[in-house]
Amino acid sequence: MVGASVGADHALGSRSRVAFSRVTAMPNFKQIHNVEDLRRHAAAYLPKPVFDFIDGGAEGEAALRNNREVFDRIRFRPRTVADVAVRRIDTTLLGKPTAAPIAIAPMGGLSSFAPHAEVSMAKACAAAGIPYCLSTAAGISIEDLRAAVPEARLWFQLYVFKDDALNRALVERAHAAGYDALMITTDTHVAPKRERDRRNGFSLSLDKTPRNIAHVLSRPRWIWDVMIKAGLPSMPVLSPHAPEIVDNISATRFFVQNRRYGFDYAHLKELRRHWKGKLLVKGVMRADEAEQVAACGADGVVMSNHGGRNLEYAAAPLEMLPEVVDAVGKRLHVLVDSGFRRGTDVVKALALGAEGVLMGRPAAFAVAAGGEAGVGHLIGLTKDEIDRTLGYLGCTALDQLDRDHLLVDRAPWGRNAPGL
Ligand SMILES: Cc1cc2nc3c(=O)[nH]c(=O)nc-3n(C[C@H](O)[C@H](O)[C@H](O)COP(=O)(O)O)c2cc1C
Repeated sequence: MVGASVGADHALGSRSRVAFSRVTAMPNFKQIHNVEDLRRHAAAYLPKPVFDFIDGGAEGEAALRNNREVFDRIRFRPRTVADVAVRRIDTTLLGKPTAAPIAIAPMGGLSSFAPHAEVSMAKACAAAGIPYCLSTAAGISIEDLRAAVPEARLWFQLYVFKDDALNRALVERAHAAGYDALMITTDTHVAPKRERDRRNGFSLSLDKTPRNIAHVLSRPRWIWDVMIKAGLPSMPVLSPHAPEIVDNISATRFFVQNRRYGFDYAHLKELRRHWKGKLLVKGVMRADEAEQVAACGADGVVMSNHGGRNLEYAAAPLEMLPEVVDAVGKRLHVLVDSGFRRGTDVVKALALGAEGVLMGRPAAFAVAAGGEAGVGHLIGLTKDEIDRTLGYLGCTALDQLDRDHLLVDRAPWGRNAPGL
């Protein structure tokens, strides 16, 4: 049956392909107004263990909940006497123009959410004028994604491996295929404890229990689209370097056994020497660490708690954003993810000083709900909400946003998050 995640988020399966199609019915997008609607459609399409793999967080899911709750503690101070008839939400991300301050976060395991999910996501991003980030644990190779979507602005996320030659080979391939940013993930050096996955028997592969078989059989559209028509690839980013990868289980085993779980600043400097494009460190949450990665030559950070999937009780990146922006905002590109579901969320982060926002689960739900069209719909909704919020705040462009637009609840101990 399907494979799953051990020690990280990653891809499942046993075939590689580029041509794609989704044969089953599309949802009525007129009735999909937000990420929660997309999530509901995804839940109806996916077998429960696969849905839980996307939706769930670590341990008691306090970090996951807090990623959302922090947004409720920040409200807006609008200016209303302003000419906002003409507004624009285009900006730059990592020094290049972009149609909106958003990108899709790297996600492994996508091939089990929808047929050819990475291609669908990259196409939707390209059509919307925003970047797409491919995961090391993707279900398509670096080169095949480029060939399938030549017009896309692509970034590559690297899980660092013990073998330096393998790391170098991966970043060289990304460079050769025209990916313009490398995102090194540093927040997954320990295998996460995701209790939904454990309860569902979702580890190296999905346990063939009567309950799981019933879950899968209850989703015939998914069986047809994902298992029969598309097939599940076995980590095509890695398989050219690892002859022992023959199926999804051996791919997952290779991934887990060969990851470097002790990545440090010396490794970062080494990778900096080999990667000429923009280099981001994903998972940095503190000002002192951001200073250190800047000293190693990084161009930016993606502040992230991995969507609440790893460290239970990790602070939400939004709470830590002012601290990091105040320390390195003039020197580093500061992107942020974890918990962003609406345009208002994006506007709050930008007002706090972020350059841009990555979305993970919303895109996973969208691709399961409606393939490329679903992801396009998500991006359209988010852009529309960003634009609308901007207008209500009395702004006509994103660079007019600042902390003056925000009203922040005091923390229970009488002190705001640093910088607020
Ligand atoms: C299903 C899934 C798989 C993920 N896989 C990866 C991955 O391969 N590499 C990585 O750096 N982050 C991975 N992440 C984390 C995302 O890049 C991102 O940090 C997180 O999803 C943001 O939070 P959000 O889902 O609330 O938007 C994954 C997240 C999900 C939901």
